[in-house]
Amino acid sequence: MDVRDAIATRYSCRAFLPTPVGEHIVREILDRAARAPSGGNLQPWRVHALAGERLEALKAELRPRFAKELPRGEGAEYQVYPPDLKEPYYTRRSRVGEQLYASIGIPRADKAARYRQFGRNYLFYDAPVGLFVSMDRIMGAPQWSDVGGFIQSIMLLARAYGLHTCAQEAWTSWHKTVGAFIKLPPEHILFCGIALGHADENAPINRWRAEREPTDVFAAFEGFNE
Ligand SMILES: Cc1cc2nc3c(=O)[nH]c(=O)nc-3n(C[C@H](O)[C@H](O)[C@H](O)COP(=O)(O)O)c2cc1C
Repeated sequence: MDVRDAIATRYSCRAFLPTPVGEHIVREILDRAARAPSGGNLQPWRVHALAGERLEALKAELRPRFAKELPRGEGAEYQVYPPDLKEPYYTRRSRVGEQLYASIGIPRADKAARYRQFGRNYLFYDAPVGLFVSMDRIMGAPQWSDVGGFIQSIMLLARAYGLHTCAQEAWTSWHKTVGAFIKLPPEHILFCGIALGHADENAPINRWRAEREPTDVFAAFEGFNE
């Protein structure tokens, strides 16, 4: 698959089919994703991959709790968004939320239904594989950015295997439970989850695409002759 096709067909998939994904495929994706660049070649990423009974056990542990403790869970370990998000970011975030909930017919006022949908994060949207991405707590902004590139590599490689993904910062709200479950060393911080599997292409939540600003909004060009 051409990288352009991988980028064009990747989206945040929020409904998966139960079709399993073998360990060898996940290993191959991670082997290749580790070619992602990182400043000083620190390779600051770490991954825990869960499937089958292990994944079900985690979901079973969380299921009775997240319904009661939504949306905060155990409290986020890092700030997912800056406080008082300013424009244009606030509008972009609201817009994608509106589109997501509209796609499944949840009106803005129905907070309970929104929370229930948000809680599906903690089922990995029914994906057969859940990845947890973490890094050493000593890492700063440049290494968090390196981990971002690594995550994108995983998501694009997944397309080459006919798979889809959803990166999930929402897991930070359950970092204690996840950390204990995967035996994350205390010196590591959980960054996000990644749901991985076969998309349910017919699910309405997968049938819209988040908007993007035109290139001229975020890029400037100078000195080109052609
Ligand atoms: C690091 C990261 C964390 C994210 N966390 C979540 C999440 O917790 N739950 C979710 O449903 N989507 C999550 N997303 C998906 C974003 O909402 C999505 O990328 C954005 O709205 C653009 O849509 P697209 O990925 O479909 O193009 C996350 C994306 C990234 C890159």
